[in-house]
Amino acid sequence: MTIREAKQTDVIRLVEIVRSSPEAGNWSAGEIESSLAEPLRRCLVAVAEEEERVLGFVLVQCAVSGEAEILTVAVDPVARRRGVARRLLWGVLEAMPGRVWLEVRRSNTAAQRLYQQLGFVESGLRRNYYSSPTEDAVVMQFTDSK
Ligand SMILES: CC(C)(COP(=O)(O)OP(=O)(O)OC[C@H]1O[C@@H](n2cnc3c(N)ncnc32)[C@H](O)[C@@H]1OP(=O)(O)O)[C@@H](O)C(=O)NCCC(=O)NCCS
Repeated sequence: MTIREAKQTDVIRLVEIVRSSPEAGNWSAGEIESSLAEPLRRCLVAVAEEEERVLGFVLVQCAVSGEAEILTVAVDPVARRRGVARRLLWGVLEAMPGRVWLEVRRSNTAAQRLYQQLGFVESGLRRNYYSSPTEDAVVMQFTDSK
């Protein structure tokens, strides 16, 4: 598996992955496409070397202060529990030292375990942050100790 920056030609595949991962949020093709062109956003993809197929991606918003927010991460359901998301998030933490934070649905324990495994800790709760269905967001953050 390799990790690389996403390209505009990946958009169709990224939309496919998002559609099969409702917890990742309702990102349209247009939103993904414009995110790739946005200078303060970075999108990394994990690619299976054998067939050059994108298995998952992570989209990050960089703040001017050096902080970064993970906007979404999603892995193709057939490629889950093989360390794809872990590799993608390592890529983010390596490329963006400092504070990285994110929001996650309270019920999404799979994602929360993933983040905890990487060293993210809970730093707050946003009541009724999500809609359809309404749910609290757990705020988690990673602070580079170097
Ligand atoms: C959450 C998600 C990105 C994880 O991707 P993945 O590639 O399967 O994750 P990894 O294989 O790298 O797992 C790393 C660790 O995360 C945790 N984890 C991942 N999936 C889990 C699950 N279904 N149940 C419990 N823990 C889980 C485990 O601790 C796992 O380590 P282990 O396999 O050694 O036990 C994937 O399930 C997904 O795309 N879900 C839908 C979208 C989503 O929820 N995005 C997050 C929005 S905030």
